[in-house]
Amino acid sequence: MSKHTLPWDDVEVRAAFPALGLTDHDKPRLYADAPGGTQVAARALTRLHASMVNHCANDGGAFRTSQLTDAGLIQAHAVAATFLGADPDEVVFGLNTTSQLFNFSRMISRAWQSGDEIVLSRMDHDANIAPWLIAAQERGVTVRWLEFDVQSFQYRYDTLSSLINSKTRLVACNHASNFLGTINDVKRIIDAAKAVGALTMVDAVQSVAHLAIDVKALGCDLLSTSPYKFFGPHAGLLYVKRELANRLVPLKVRPASDSMPTKHSPGTPSFEAQCATQGAIEHMAWLGERFGAQAPASLREQIVAGYAAAQAHELALTERFLAGIAPLRNITLYGIADVSQASARVPTFSLRIGHLEPRAVATEFAEHNIYVWDGSFYAYEIAGVLGVRETGGVVRIGFAHYNTLAEVDRIVALLADMSVRA
Ligand SMILES: Cc1ncc(COP(=O)(O)O)c(C=O)c1O
Repeated sequence: MSKHTLPWDDVEVRAAFPALGLTDHDKPRLYADAPGGTQVAARALTRLHASMVNHCANDGGAFRTSQLTDAGLIQAHAVAATFLGADPDEVVFGLNTTSQLFNFSRMISRAWQSGDEIVLSRMDHDANIAPWLIAAQERGVTVRWLEFDVQSFQYRYDTLSSLINSKTRLVACNHASNFLGTINDVKRIIDAAKAVGALTMVDAVQSVAHLAIDVKALGCDLLSTSPYKFFGPHAGLLYVKRELANRLVPLKVRPASDSMPTKHSPGTPSFEAQCATQGAIEHMAWLGERFGAQAPASLREQIVAGYAAAQAHELALTERFLAGIAPLRNITLYGIADVSQASARVPTFSLRIGHLEPRAVATEFAEHNIYVWDGSFYAYEIAGVLGVRETGGVVRIGFAHYNTLAEVDRIVALLADMSVRA
């Protein structure tokens, strides 16, 4: 196959997101809110629109629109499986990650006995903590915590051997932190859990906008993603290893299907969200075709090449941001700050500026039509460890591959201005 790829082109990439062209009172929008949810790719919108116009019907009927819905959901599951490195019967679409983890924690914990243990991580979003905590309380199970180091913002991998033992039933952790931005060595955690036969759950909701996922290479039992964090619609997309998906007794109404992929989706799913998710994944594949280093052949190769191209661009954004804030006074960055370690983090930056309230900082950004988050983003444990839970949290500035170096420079200039006032 001939190589027809191009160097990264901001203009072309941004044209693939209709929302990026919008203005408010003639001010362009600067979206630095990606960790809370990215903008939606045109390919996702096209699929969403087509599904709702062409086949807005429930599945399983004898007529044309219902049959098109059946075909759409089969295709969406196949594409989502390719995206995760899984098989179509290992993919569960749901409302969002939180509700999916409440659902699965209830099913999984049925087998837990008093005296059993689970390991949760202090670095997780509460969606990967609270459901397991509640289940542990109900079953009389001991909870152990995998802490993180507040200097390096890395997991305390050195404690794994003392946390995980023959009583451990489950180990839950995250691939990349939605607060600190750290990319974690989840394979190391999964391997330690598997050595004692414990189930493993990886929250990839934050990493999936930035890193290609390969569940088979990781070897986990469960892995969560939310398509609205990777250029698609509000939904949950969960990988469940076949053996586990088949073993679990579903929480479902009696007449509903007993087989995957619908066995673990209680009630009518959002068929349109499934189609739109397919479109979001096709966006990543398009990036690979267009900007990948080699001409990719299969859909999986296109997706992986798309992530590689996006990652190279995001690394440049990360380096520019870290180098830009390094000389500024009064900025406390909660995460890896060393430019030479930029590839060890995703472009999600939580910071405080002197005595300025995070909400006041976010409001000042908003006056320039620059969108940044403030608060703790349900990273309840992290905010507690860092002592910012009760004081407004932090300002979170986050980039995706549609952001530009010029946008980073605008944000750094504003931070510089605020930092001298703080
Ligand atoms: C790392 C992480 N995990 C889980 C969630 C929860 O996802 P959902 O909103 O789909 O329930 C979020 C949402 O912000 C997140 O960032």
